[in-house]
Amino acid sequence: MAKLYIKPSVTLGHINPEVQGHFSEHLGRCIYEGIYVGEDSKIPNTKGMRNDVVAALKEIKIPVLRWPGGCFADEYHWKDGIGPKESRKKMINTHWGGVVEDNSFGTHEFFELCEQLGCKTYINGNVGSGTVAEMSEWVEYMTFDGVSPMAELRKKNGHEKAWKIDYFGVGNENWGCGGNMRPEYYANEYRRYQTYVRNYRHDTQIFKVCGGANVDDYEWTRKVLETTFTRCPDFLHGQMDGLSLHYYVHPEGWDIKGSATQFDDKVWYKTLSKALYTNTLIKRHGAIMDEFDPDKKVGIIMDEWGTWYTCEPGTNPGFLYQQNTMRDALVAGIHLNIFNKNCDRVKMANLAQMVNVLQAVILTEGDKMILTPTYHVFNMYKDHQDNELVDSSIETKTIGLEEEYMVPNLNESVSKDKEGNLHITINNLSLEDSEFIEGVLVDVKIQSVEAEILTQKMDAYNDFEHPDVVKKQEFNDIKINGDNRIEFTIPPCSVMHIKVVTE
Ligand code: AHR
Repeated sequence: MAKLYIKPSVTLGHINPEVQGHFSEHLGRCIYEGIYVGEDSKIPNTKGMRNDVVAALKEIKIPVLRWPGGCFADEYHWKDGIGPKESRKKMINTHWGGVVEDNSFGTHEFFELCEQLGCKTYINGNVGSGTVAEMSEWVEYMTFDGVSPMAELRKKNGHEKAWKIDYFGVGNENWGCGGNMRPEYYANEYRRYQTYVRNYRHDTQIFKVCGGANVDDYEWTRKVLETTFTRCPDFLHGQMDGLSLHYYVHPEGWDIKGSATQFDDKVWYKTLSKALYTNTLIKRHGAIMDEFDPDKKVGIIMDEWGTWYTCEPGTNPGFLYQQNTMRDALVAGIHLNIFNKNCDRVKMANLAQMVNVLQAVILTEGDKMILTPTYHVFNMYKDHQDNELVDSSIETKTIGLEEEYMVPNLNESVSKDKEGNLHITINNLSLEDSEFIEGVLVDVKIQSVEAEILTQKMDAYNDFEHPDVVKKQEFNDIKINGDNRIEFTIPPCSVMHIKVVTE
């Protein structure tokens, strides 16, 4: 038996919808085929965007989309992707798979996609191989409504009105594929480049994201902050609204990675313990940020996270195509709970990547589309978006098969929506044991409860012949006990969402 304590009157911060954000790179079949098929495709589309994929993403209330990379961003020259499609440059995508990039998906197409999705925009600029002028002109092209060469060019290319950039990343992984820079060098470049990411619109400020650390590179975080922080926290804030953090879960390490679908119980726990490590990373990078920014005005932007396995046999290794099992569902559930619980610092997070790449929520094959276990978790967590985090804790046991990779059996977060309803998301990491849970909701009167669950064996997945092996189901076995207690048994290997309506 485990007790879950919830204090709805104690709220601990706002959960930005963007912590459930996504990422789409010109990589493999993410953009081309997965999202964009062109207007002449037989696959039903609106202005080239797949109708099935857009509808599925709207269902999970996709809050924000990052584009065009990733490593691709620091090789991307935006002028290659505007104007008549037939005259756009064709080139080799040297970073990913060596295939032809015809630039048919560019700036206009990205904004069209976000408009169809109804989501915020996150553009990643090029510091590694681009100039300050190029980045500055891109921002002008996208957001300036007055008289200027770039605004004129946009109009000439068919878009009269300026668009809105919500988030702008100044480079990507500049410690690696974005130029192999040292932290002080990048930080100085960041200061310069961000100066010209101008706010042309009066109705909104662009949220500027500085390129942060890889995994546990705390030295990077400290040096970048030391170099950008010159006078006082407010000065820092004027230049930087967010600092990114990238962390991928490789069950068997970066070199071997491991199969997406064939793994044993040991690897299950190893993977989940690596997912839980995200909390440590956020706390440790956050502690360094606290020294410079005690009021937490600069957000952690975890704009790349997820599992990264050995790609599916027979596929282009540069396409990073992998299957997605219940293990990925648990990795997603754990991460989204961690983001909720750290909502005072984590302002956005973007799963890598949205379609057909790494821990995708959607896989496509020709005109077919399937929803992965990870998709269903996002669908079950969407009710947390824009809520207030509520104080909660759960009793756990330590389980696992190897000392180094022990995990708590349960993991949860709780939020309160605008109507006062509570949303509990809870994961059972155990492969064998169900757990009886008694939830104590302090000082509330429960009116009704509804719940949904995702549960299957650890390596179950959906494929094009069997698209519904893993899918969420209603869960009706929750008992209300007295005014303020709920009781239920969570099966092993499952993700659950409970909505509690209170009086
Ligand atoms: O998501 C795949 C790649 O992983 C991204 O392009 C890069 O930023 C990271 O190394």
